[in-house]
Amino acid sequence: MNDKYGIEIIGLKGIPLIKTGDNIPEIILNSLKYNGLSLKDKDIIVIAQSLVSKSIGQVRNLDDITPSEKAHEIFNIIAPKAEQQGLPKKDPHLIQLILDEAKEIIKTEHVLITETKHGFVCADAGIDKSNIEGNRIVTLLPKDPDYQAEKIRKSLKKKSHKEIAVIISDSFGRSFRVGAVGVSIGVSGINPILDMRGKTDLFGYKLQSTIIGQADSLSSAAQLVMGESDEGIPVVLIRGYNFEYDEKSSINSIIRNKSIDLFRGPEGSKLTKVLKSRRSYKFAFDDKIVNRKVVEDCIEVARWAPSAHNGQFWRYIILDNQQLRERVIDKMNQKLRNDLKNDGKTEEYIKNKIKKAKLNFIKAPVLILLCLDKIELEDYPDDERRENEYILGIQSISSSATYFLLALEVKNLASCWYCAPIFTKEIIKETLNLPKSYVPMAFFTVGYPLKTMPVPSRKKLQDVIYEPKV
Ligand SMILES: Cc1cc2nc3c(=O)[nH]c(=O)nc-3n(C[C@H](O)[C@H](O)[C@H](O)COP(=O)(O)O)c2cc1C
Repeated sequence: MNDKYGIEIIGLKGIPLIKTGDNIPEIILNSLKYNGLSLKDKDIIVIAQSLVSKSIGQVRNLDDITPSEKAHEIFNIIAPKAEQQGLPKKDPHLIQLILDEAKEIIKTEHVLITETKHGFVCADAGIDKSNIEGNRIVTLLPKDPDYQAEKIRKSLKKKSHKEIAVIISDSFGRSFRVGAVGVSIGVSGINPILDMRGKTDLFGYKLQSTIIGQADSLSSAAQLVMGESDEGIPVVLIRGYNFEYDEKSSINSIIRNKSIDLFRGPEGSKLTKVLKSRRSYKFAFDDKIVNRKVVEDCIEVARWAPSAHNGQFWRYIILDNQQLRERVIDKMNQKLRNDLKNDGKTEEYIKNKIKKAKLNFIKAPVLILLCLDKIELEDYPDDERRENEYILGIQSISSSATYFLLALEVKNLASCWYCAPIFTKEIIKETLNLPKSYVPMAFFTVGYPLKTMPVPSRKKLQDVIYEPKV
């Protein structure tokens, strides 16, 4: 009885440098022979993507690519980030090629994280500069790696009469771990995943969710032999791995559908979630201190709001001097008291209103005053246009305020927008000794929430889209 349990990973030596049109199955069979081997049933041949790409002419000279305006724009975004990380800058020709090859650019950081047309999420649309001669020459992923794997498998089977599997592998970096690992990008004869659901484990427990990425594991194992630098072993034979031979396999079964991808989720879901989950928080806040830097980070985001003729009329004042804050609120409340008295409100009603205002504005961990700086408004000779310009200023600071609230939401900070300063503009200006051109517009209370706010109703979509009846 053979009580050995293990697999063999054998790098095939003697593979020549590949040119377009080379017959890969023939080269593999020759190198097996050169290594004193012949194929057996259930052998797995793992082939480096670069070798397949070169043989089918998926090779480009970067000097033949004309970068578009978009490629230059992306270059300007990522070059400083790459520099900061001590990484080489990607030139605009390569960026253009990435744009051509990618279905979507998912992240534009020091690298470009892309989704390729096959659905692979990887850096630079899988375009590779390594293992190819020529400074400006790169390989692209095969357009249909499954088809290439199948073509090679069928040809090897025809010549060897063995039921083997073929995996085309590449090396991808990973989002949550350092270090690239081998992954499969095309398969034939082996299912990329091994579904263990329904099988029992060591202790008789029925597995509920275990699915093993066997083709990726095999690719990683092969990569240990292939190496990434100058080992020059682009084909690896794996022998002894027990798998179910499957002629209908496809790499598609390993690609996680975007709708169940917990990190990307359905299109736009993260932003939509932030937009819809933001609430005006009107309960007492947690005592937890809000770091001023966090607030400043949110104001930094608020700077990016659109504004009429890019006037950026917003001025944020963080009222972190508690004495000053109390003085302003007291003065505002004196005016509120007078206004409500003149409105004929009862003393009890007035007391309640003032108590609420005190609680809201004095107890909030952070209180921010938003002002419009009239100095940025364009001047007009007539009242109507001057008034319109003022409205534009108000609209613009509102957009910045919205950015601010959303930035707070992203940082898990609760906030509420209060209109009280509108009714006490002069009192606030005087108490805080603000520049003449400042117009107090809103207060924002900010802090960590203690409770969840109920969700106020929203009008129906058809009630906010008006169809002109002409
Ligand atoms: C311009 C503006 C002024 C507001 N003023 C106040 C206010 O003075 N007091 C208050 O309790 N809420 C105020 N709010 C918050 C609204 O009540 C709140 O946005 C609305 O009820 C919808 O709730 P949500 O923000 O949780 O979706 C204001 C909101 C805006 C946009």
